[in-house]
Amino acid sequence: MEFPERFSNLPEYAFPRLRSLLDAHAPGGDVVHMTIGEPKHAFPAWVTDVIVENAAGFNSYPQNEGTDALRGAIADWVRLRYGVTLDPDTRIMALNGTREGLYNAAMALCPEEKNSRKPVILTPNPFYQVYMVAALSVGAEPVFVPATAQTGFLPDYASLPEDVLNRVAIAYLCSPANPQGAVASRDDWADLIGLAEKYDFQIFADECYSEIYRDIPPPGALQVAQDLGADPERVLSFHSLSKRSNLPGLRSGFVAAGPQCMARIKQLRAYAGAPLPGPLQAAAAKVWADEAHVDENRALYRQKYRVADEVLRSVQGYQPPDAGFFLWLPVDDGEAAALKLWTETGVRVLPGAYLARDVAGQNPGAGYIRVAMVAPKQEMQRGLIQLRDCLYT
Ligand SMILES: Cc1ncc(COP(=O)(O)O)c(C=O)c1O
Repeated sequence: MEFPERFSNLPEYAFPRLRSLLDAHAPGGDVVHMTIGEPKHAFPAWVTDVIVENAAGFNSYPQNEGTDALRGAIADWVRLRYGVTLDPDTRIMALNGTREGLYNAAMALCPEEKNSRKPVILTPNPFYQVYMVAALSVGAEPVFVPATAQTGFLPDYASLPEDVLNRVAIAYLCSPANPQGAVASRDDWADLIGLAEKYDFQIFADECYSEIYRDIPPPGALQVAQDLGADPERVLSFHSLSKRSNLPGLRSGFVAAGPQCMARIKQLRAYAGAPLPGPLQAAAAKVWADEAHVDENRALYRQKYRVADEVLRSVQGYQPPDAGFFLWLPVDDGEAAALKLWTETGVRVLPGAYLARDVAGQNPGAGYIRVAMVAPKQEMQRGLIQLRDCLYT
């Protein structure tokens, strides 16, 4: 049997790799999970009631692009959060979580050629892994651009050679960034939009951590695009209830885009999409309309930021994250550190290299571990103290 060549160099996904690294060894103490970015705060209790009330909807095929109620609630949220008014019929589509949207939008929109050559898809390095798989799936060349301490933990796409920029079809940017917690400022977005206009590419703004922040709401790509009067087709913005509302299992997100892009994304979805079940769409509509639980959630993360700042203050190179719920901690060797931490304390973290790709023999994640602040506060605090004492003293 023959299999596609284009995926043959894909490394094992981060979590099976982590299991291979750690699971042959016994934990050195009570296990504290700090690997997966799976929110653990409670979601609003009424979500269950809404699903039950709408359970008859399981009897019907769900609406592909999202019900009127769901798209309407999303449009209201975008207006309140960013001051951007979008027509819910032509500018918004419901997603089954942002991951599939980030993938399927590339399928729908990446051209076969850019300036008569193989297109390039830009991704930060380290990055959320679906960006790379999307690029490989559409026959584009993924170009991994370091997002390191030297670049403020965001990729400096403008520094790429002209020859590469001329081939760019799509640039992914994650803000707030997983794993580094960096936030793209208005100027960062404006610069990227300017670059995209100059080289005629699209920006896929992965903003699924936009509601988890310390004090200042991160600016949104849609907002900056509107302020600049940019072509609405230039920027696609992806959002999710997974982190905002602690509902990663609900699988609800959305993409906002220009009407032409949206028509193409919707068309592909009509053929091959996996829409969100109707009762879950009903619940998602209510969740987008409620901010009280989001404020409460953010307050819990603020406490966690404070704990992290207190415990790790003395760690050289500790960068308090602006947003998101990961710590991106410098170590000599991320794999060795994760193994030592596991075998000596039972604290489980992810080597940064597993979230990045080697480019010219350099892996920009190799000298880091990623620590998810998702466990309950006391447990997280205990884990961080053990981590500090094991790796930094
Ligand atoms: C950067 C980033 N983008 C997208 C996603 C996908 O989230 P979801 O599909 O749950 O909306 C995640 C999930 O962890 C993520 O970390």
